[in-house]
Amino acid sequence: MADSIEHYFKPITHTFLDKDWKEGFTVYYKSTDGSQVHYLVFAQYLPEDYSRLEKIMKETDRQEFFIHENDLIRYYRQCVLVRLREQIQAKNPKPLETIGLIYPIVRRIMGDYLEYDTSPRMLRALDELPDFLCPVFKHGNIPFPALAGLTLKDGSIETHCANVGLYALYYGRILDVTESELRDLFLGGLFSDLGKKDFPPGLESKSKLEQVDWSLIRKHPSSAKKMLNDMKCYSENILRMVVEHHENFDGSGYPFGLEGDKISLYGRIARILDVFDAMTCERPFRPPVKTIEALTQIKDSMEGHFDPRLLTALFKSFTTS
Ligand SMILES: [Fe+2]
Repeated sequence: MADSIEHYFKPITHTFLDKDWKEGFTVYYKSTDGSQVHYLVFAQYLPEDYSRLEKIMKETDRQEFFIHENDLIRYYRQCVLVRLREQIQAKNPKPLETIGLIYPIVRRIMGDYLEYDTSPRMLRALDELPDFLCPVFKHGNIPFPALAGLTLKDGSIETHCANVGLYALYYGRILDVTESELRDLFLGGLFSDLGKKDFPPGLESKSKLEQVDWSLIRKHPSSAKKMLNDMKCYSENILRMVVEHHENFDGSGYPFGLEGDKISLYGRIARILDVFDAMTCERPFRPPVKTIEALTQIKDSMEGHFDPRLLTALFKSFTTS
């Protein structure tokens, strides 16, 4: 089932049509023949057909339309990222404004992967985003409260992933890492919770978790690492950040119970940021905690979970930035 062609289509409506996408794409519809599902060509979209196709898609209200994953990846590369580059070149926005332009694109691509039955190849649409983000963090002075103020707190997995990726870039800047290490921090942070794609709906909002739930939760770092490793295009730093983001500094974490410096720098950073973002995002059972309150709780009441040197570096950055 996982390799079935039906897994590579995302449903769209007329609102997906983009006048700026000069290369265009194929619009499909679904046809069911017994237990067999087929995706058939409905129309070829080009910008000159925008009005005609938009009208047809609006009027055909009982028909579901789809885009193939290959076209969706091309859409991000040929249209969304080209438009982003043009915007940045034309307006020369300030660092925070640049991040504000990139953040929704990161969330959208992550959402396409996490929400729909797209394959891991969908993640390759993110490939160029570190080229935009890393120089902004490397050379711009971005205060952490301002960055935390820019991110959404809606509690969705794609928001959490995007937030941890951005906060990891901040950490990279205060630790003065290279641009290539910044790239790894961003992608590692972004990908840490990809394994949650396999979670059944509502798992994380359950008031009481059963043994079977815990077993699924404890697997998510390893399942994401395996998937990324199979893609053969992500560094060891990224893979370790993903698999170690629930390892506690005192050895009480999972999946391996690693302790201290046996956890990579990337994993230790991810542990702090994963908890920070979880606390500051909305949850069904509690409202979001404010940035400063979350950081204070991390420092004072969760001793043992985090690398104290990294926490010191984070707090020191607030007084020097
Ligand atoms: Fe996680």
